[in-house]
Amino acid sequence: MNATPRRVEHQQTDKGSVPVYTTAVVEQPWSSYSREDHGTWAQLFERQQKILVGRAAREFIDNQRKFGMTPHAIPKFDELNRVLKSATGWELIGVEGLLPELTFFDHLANRRFPVTWWIRRPEQIDYISEPDLFHDLFGHVPLLLNPVFADYMQAYGCGGVKAHGIGGDALVNLTRLYWYTVEFGLIKQDDGLRIYGSGIVSSKGESIYCLESPAPNRIGFDLQRIMRTRYRIDTYQKTYFVIDSYEQLMDATRPDFTPLYAELVKLDSIPAGSVLPTDHVFHCGSGEGWAKSGDV
Ligand SMILES: [Fe+2]
Repeated sequence: MNATPRRVEHQQTDKGSVPVYTTAVVEQPWSSYSREDHGTWAQLFERQQKILVGRAAREFIDNQRKFGMTPHAIPKFDELNRVLKSATGWELIGVEGLLPELTFFDHLANRRFPVTWWIRRPEQIDYISEPDLFHDLFGHVPLLLNPVFADYMQAYGCGGVKAHGIGGDALVNLTRLYWYTVEFGLIKQDDGLRIYGSGIVSSKGESIYCLESPAPNRIGFDLQRIMRTRYRIDTYQKTYFVIDSYEQLMDATRPDFTPLYAELVKLDSIPAGSVLPTDHVFHCGSGEGWAKSGDV
């Protein structure tokens, strides 16, 4: 086991220009985590747990409890897998960091979720450009216990393998769907809008901003609209999309996207902060503090 992740190249991804790591699946080197690593986990876990009360989706909070995640120590993948495999057939696998796209899609298509084994350094508590253990484990894993969301993640992986074969714009369209749902999605629940996106739940600032700031748009989920919408990798999002249920996500993802990609090629992309007359608008953002350029 290497003590440091093995980086193989830099690549422009949805997290900016970041290192992409070896594709190897690694055993989580749990005994090599330092006291400082466990302390970083504890600090982040406790802070986010407090912030997420009344903000995160019900299932997120409940499932985190079912996994038995606590601030006391970095969870062991083996122990989480015992719960996860029997519930939805998903399995966590340890990786060095971000994977090449096709490798990532193939894992999802086979119900394997890659989790970065290393955790950020203390000076990166508030921001790290690439996903680390806290983002992957705290942010992504709880919803894999939800059967419908678990199926959606697999369907996304299968769609990714297919889009990779089609190439070019198809991957851009599909990546936007992942971005605006899995990473930055909101859900409408009985008591109001709640967060389910892992990029939000693992961020102190954005957990508050996405629900409470007047600046961003909050717009109803629309598959084609999302696939045309550019996004931000360097600031909070200008627009969040709201689903009614995880079934809505799964239903939208069931059809073959090939004809849709062919349609989308003919249409312009939509700036990250635009509101269209056809949108179902929960909140029209004030746009306060938005950068004028830099949507990707
Ligand atoms: Fe992520």
